[in-house]
Amino acid sequence: MTTVSFAEIGPHERYKLLCATIVPRPIALVTTLSRDGVVNAAPFSFFNVFSEDPPIVVLGLQHRPAGTHKDTTRNIAETGVFVVNLVDEALADAMNICAVDFPAEVSEIDAAGLTLAAGLDVSVPHVAAAPFALECRRTVSLAFGPGREILLGEVLRLHARDELLDERTMRIDADRYRPVGRLFGNGYARQNDRFELRRESYAEWSGKPDR
Ligand SMILES: Cc1cc2nc3c(=O)[nH]c(=O)nc-3n(C[C@H](O)[C@H](O)[C@H](O)COP(=O)(O)O)c2cc1C
Repeated sequence: MTTVSFAEIGPHERYKLLCATIVPRPIALVTTLSRDGVVNAAPFSFFNVFSEDPPIVVLGLQHRPAGTHKDTTRNIAETGVFVVNLVDEALADAMNICAVDFPAEVSEIDAAGLTLAAGLDVSVPHVAAAPFALECRRTVSLAFGPGREILLGEVLRLHARDELLDERTMRIDADRYRPVGRLFGNGYARQNDRFELRRESYAEWSGKPDR
């Protein structure tokens, strides 16, 4: 057994260990709007859902090495709103182009050849080709040291691409949804091998009557 004390290693090693062990991570391709009206898109895999009531998603926004904020971080600070576009296999290449450190005045949307669709509850547009897009409003930002912000956002609305959501049952078509997960570094995973585990009650598991 090998154990590693996080007090005895540096941030780079912690990053390597956490990002290679907590896998796959979902990818949020976050669209935001600058004060000048430029639409920004950037991927974030320090991302997940943490609550459904209220509906809260979380983003881990690292600052640039010089300490300046990424365009996403600055835009959310200025407008208070953002959209999480989920990334599937068809969107993976475009998502990767959006991770290029373009200057603030260049929109990743054009560089990646993406088309936008207008938001309904927020001013920020979403990626038309995204399987799902979540319109969000920032609720809380937590600053950690000079280098990082953890941001909680409330989901106001979900957009689903055609045929992915049955509006009557609120069921997602898991066979049609092909999400891509982030592994470590340049590694990604498809979701090719699903399986089910039926969750038992304590009575079923133990053979004893219900408590
Ligand atoms: C798959 C993937 C996941 C990423 N996850 C994060 C993340 O969770 N946090 C972060 O700060 N940067 C992350 N990045 C890097 C940002 O996407 C990158 O810094 C981007 O250029 C920021 O763009 P912006 O300045 O337009 O906001 C990730 C990059 C990739 C390719």
